[in-house]
Amino acid sequence: MILSLERSTSPPVDLMMELEVRPLHPDFGVEILSVDLSMPLEYERFAQIERAVEHYSVVLFRGQSFDDDSQLAFSRRFGALEYGHVAYGRDGSIEYVGRIGNIDKNGKQLPSKHKKVVFSTGNEMWHSDSSFREVPARLSISYAHEVTPDGGELEFVSTRPAYARLPPDLKETLANLVAIHDYTYSRSKVGEDVVSASLAASLPPVPQKLVRTNQATGAKNYYVGSHARSIEGWRDEDARVLLDDLVARATTPEHRYQHSWQIGDLLIWDNRCVLHRGMPYDADRYRRRMHQTRVAGLSSSLDED
Ligand SMILES: [Fe+2]
Repeated sequence: MILSLERSTSPPVDLMMELEVRPLHPDFGVEILSVDLSMPLEYERFAQIERAVEHYSVVLFRGQSFDDDSQLAFSRRFGALEYGHVAYGRDGSIEYVGRIGNIDKNGKQLPSKHKKVVFSTGNEMWHSDSSFREVPARLSISYAHEVTPDGGELEFVSTRPAYARLPPDLKETLANLVAIHDYTYSRSKVGEDVVSASLAASLPPVPQKLVRTNQATGAKNYYVGSHARSIEGWRDEDARVLLDDLVARATTPEHRYQHSWQIGDLLIWDNRCVLHRGMPYDADRYRRRMHQTRVAGLSSSLDED
């Protein structure tokens, strides 16, 4: 049976029956079992998976077999893809598969002091992928090619239950606020001059709604993270206190799901309502390589209901 994406904050009653799932965390996230994504995926099955993403925000498949072409084809079923901002900012080239980790395009392991590996430590701060773009990413889809035996986990929290936990007066304060997201600001915490002039010029600060509403389910969440620099109409120091407080509320240990990678994992997360961060790992000792695609949002968050 195909369900429409009605605006309901609870999962469709038969979603759990249509798909064999295992919860990843009491608040969000499921592993979908018994689906081989290398086999042709009929429309109905794909629609169930997309509904699971809308409702559970983090969706895991284990033991999958993808190359870049099949990952791109699967990702495009969710919508138009976002090209990587780093390659574009460097020389204007368009790349739809990002490489996460310490392995270069020739398969060579990069040391921990390598510029690219140092740069990627910015992902160890809680963030939402590409919230600094005018049209931010809707989904990120990561496939594990090489994994570390320890370290390098990915941690997630959902700002949907975090929003629901807020006291009513704070919800009221947030209601119509607009935050400024700024890539150069967030990367300034990694080190000086890590963002080239051409990359900075290609990513000017952008406004985003502080409270977002899932267009399929009507569920609300707040939209923050390391790229959120300030709030329109607020003094910077007051904005910093509020933005940090919202991240702190969402990320206390009991609200986190920590994902330990296995080769063959395909992980999908909804950047509109989850924050994530990579855990440190020993890049001199271990190889780590995830290939990531991103599904673009449909508009700026300012244009959402
Ligand atoms: Fe990320």
